[in-house]
Amino acid sequence: MSRYLLAIDQGTTSSRAVLVHRQGHIVDMVQRDFSQHYPEPGWVEHHPGDLWHTVLDCCQQLLKEHQLNAADIIGIGITNQRETTLIWDKDSGEPIYPAIVWQDRRTADYCQKLTDAQPDLEAQVQSKTGLLLDPYFCASKIHWLLENVPGARHQAEQGKLCFGTVDCYLLWHLTKGRVHATDATNASRTLLFDIHAQQWDQELLRLFDIPAALLPEVKDSACEFGSTDTSWFGGAIAILAMAGDQQAALVGQCCFDKGMAKSTYGTGCFLMLNTGEQALQSQNRLLTTLAYRLNGKPTYALEGSIFMAGATIQWLRDGLHLIEQAGESEQLARETKVDHGVLLVPAFTGLGAPYWDPDARGAILGLTRDTGIKEIVSAGLQSVCYQTKDLQKAMEADGVRPTCLRVDGGMVRNDWLMQFLADMLGAQVQRSKVNETTVLGVAYLAGLQAGTFASLEELAAQWTEDRSFDPVLSKAKRDELYKSWQQGVRRIQTKV
Ligand code: G3P
Repeated sequence: MSRYLLAIDQGTTSSRAVLVHRQGHIVDMVQRDFSQHYPEPGWVEHHPGDLWHTVLDCCQQLLKEHQLNAADIIGIGITNQRETTLIWDKDSGEPIYPAIVWQDRRTADYCQKLTDAQPDLEAQVQSKTGLLLDPYFCASKIHWLLENVPGARHQAEQGKLCFGTVDCYLLWHLTKGRVHATDATNASRTLLFDIHAQQWDQELLRLFDIPAALLPEVKDSACEFGSTDTSWFGGAIAILAMAGDQQAALVGQCCFDKGMAKSTYGTGCFLMLNTGEQALQSQNRLLTTLAYRLNGKPTYALEGSIFMAGATIQWLRDGLHLIEQAGESEQLARETKVDHGVLLVPAFTGLGAPYWDPDARGAILGLTRDTGIKEIVSAGLQSVCYQTKDLQKAMEADGVRPTCLRVDGGMVRNDWLMQFLADMLGAQVQRSKVNETTVLGVAYLAGLQAGTFASLEELAAQWTEDRSFDPVLSKAKRDELYKSWQQGVRRIQTKV
């Protein structure tokens, strides 16, 4: 009997292959970083070959290290950085341009022009897709590629090109060009997919001037996606699940009931609340998205996306050289009071939810002669919590309050940060024992498809808490600190 599931996590800064035991625990992983490319201010690109080759290398090395062959693997699950946009040639597989990464802001003007020309357009787009007219999503990126890569539009109209998010691109390569498909969670991030009708929307395709021939088939998050070409792993392995990384983390955190929420602190921060069968449309600039689609049945979520969380600490380390390792930030923050008066608003690539201001830029405010490294580092950590508070407030204004908040991601080992988060939210924060919720989630989905897990209920029983944090800060102090954050944000906003 095959013993393992193989989870692939293709993220913004690294690719990973993870071996998950059929009973649901992580056995081992291999990780490879790859280069980021910033050809112009506000532009972010990845070389498609780097994405594919790091994934393939990780998988091959992992199998080799454990002396496993294809027959030992029950199935593969793929989870990925979402919205990153690729177009490639259907015959040769050659990408027509680098991958345009989700953080890329090159289409901000185009999105703004669409909104200016038709002020009610955003509401129409939101009612179908759950998203906003922002450069974050794929549609404006695809439009840019078709307009700017010589010959691309003509070839797209002839049906010679394929569009895909990273899941779809990897599937295409793993199956050596036999399958052009994506899953509903990834489709729901394109700005072209009607999340209610569960299909590509012709009107939106016309709006962004995108030929339907480019698009992949949309499938459930757990289903038979195809098999790997025998040349990659010495035999075929079934690909049984695909899901965007934040959706996979929601599954990995076992937030299967309506009202349960998770927040992942990686490069950015993504708070996602399960709203069950109801696609709750936000009045407060949050996103409505697919949490997962199983057996044709969609489960929806409300999402707040923040672009800079761990990336802020990386900047303090690699940009300003204030710290040598991210872990030092915890001790420095402990050495200062929470009300030191310094604010860091990390709008390096604009502001995400709930402001959606792609032109806003970051600021450090409140500097005095006695401001030192520890205040600035502490302000960087606090910015992550203030931004989460922004999302909590927007959710509350939409009439929902999470019944629990489970956290994961690289930053959550920082106890000071978790305590300040609980203080700022005025709510309990639960840290799960397994931090690798993204890979676990997609392995769970693959296992459900394979029948190694019987149900979501069975999975829910696997969740274990590492530690929970309860608020201790007074409400008056919390309100005072949050008010100064809001004032800081107002000073850098370009759209109010
Ligand atoms: O929406 C973007 C998100 O999916 C990226 O996640 O973990 O690669 O930073 P991550």
